[in-house]
Amino acid sequence: MAHILHIDSSARTQQSFSRKLTREFVETWLKLHPGDTLTYRDLNTTPLPFLDERWVAAAFSPEQAEEHKMALTISNLLIDELVAANVLVLGVPVYNLSVPAIFKAYIDQIVRMGRTTKYTATGPEGLLKGKQAYVIATSGSDFSQEPLKSLDHHTPYLKAILGFVGISDVTFIRHFGHEPQGIEQSLAQARGHILNHARQGLETQI
Ligand SMILES: Cc1cc2nc3c(=O)[nH]c(=O)nc-3n(C[C@H](O)[C@H](O)[C@H](O)COP(=O)(O)O)c2cc1C
Repeated sequence: MAHILHIDSSARTQQSFSRKLTREFVETWLKLHPGDTLTYRDLNTTPLPFLDERWVAAAFSPEQAEEHKMALTISNLLIDELVAANVLVLGVPVYNLSVPAIFKAYIDQIVRMGRTTKYTATGPEGLLKGKQAYVIATSGSDFSQEPLKSLDHHTPYLKAILGFVGISDVTFIRHFGHEPQGIEQSLAQARGHILNHARQGLETQI
């Protein structure tokens, strides 16, 4: 059985392609696998705080003083939500060559030493094993090939940081184009990938 964590981060609502496509992904998945369950988080309507001095002090302290627990309340909630899911559906547009700031704020909250990653003698080891992640990556331009590929600080970053917490099974479904022309083919391709992946469902068990 899959438990899906669906996260959107576009600043747009009705016009957003990433929201449209993540919603289609999740709806198709749940129709094909009716026993699976869902948690939804909209980073735009409930923005997360940036890390502050209290957070950093608490996250890197071995003690569990009351003030530390308080400072990490949101981080712990988000990590619990992530741990409980085995499928992630993430809507992450390209903003200024990278991820939206609200998505980076989410990443900063969930990368935690001892909870989602740890250091070993051979280097860092991610602790969130056995999860499938699907990133719906929307952009105005096509970053999948040159001349823009070398300017892509979105896909490689997401792959690296998800890998850092142990999520190495990551599939990127891209949609790009400037409205209103030239988007139909890209949308049809993204929808084809969505249908295939939703049909496959959960491949690994935790
Ligand atoms: C603030 C902002 C910055 C953007 N920066 C880029 C960019 O660097 N490269 C690009 O190709 N598109 C860029 N875009 C275009 C978006 O990636 C594109 O419109 C995408 O469809 C947004 O996702 P959404 O449809 O889910 O809102 C930017 C859009 C916004 C609003």
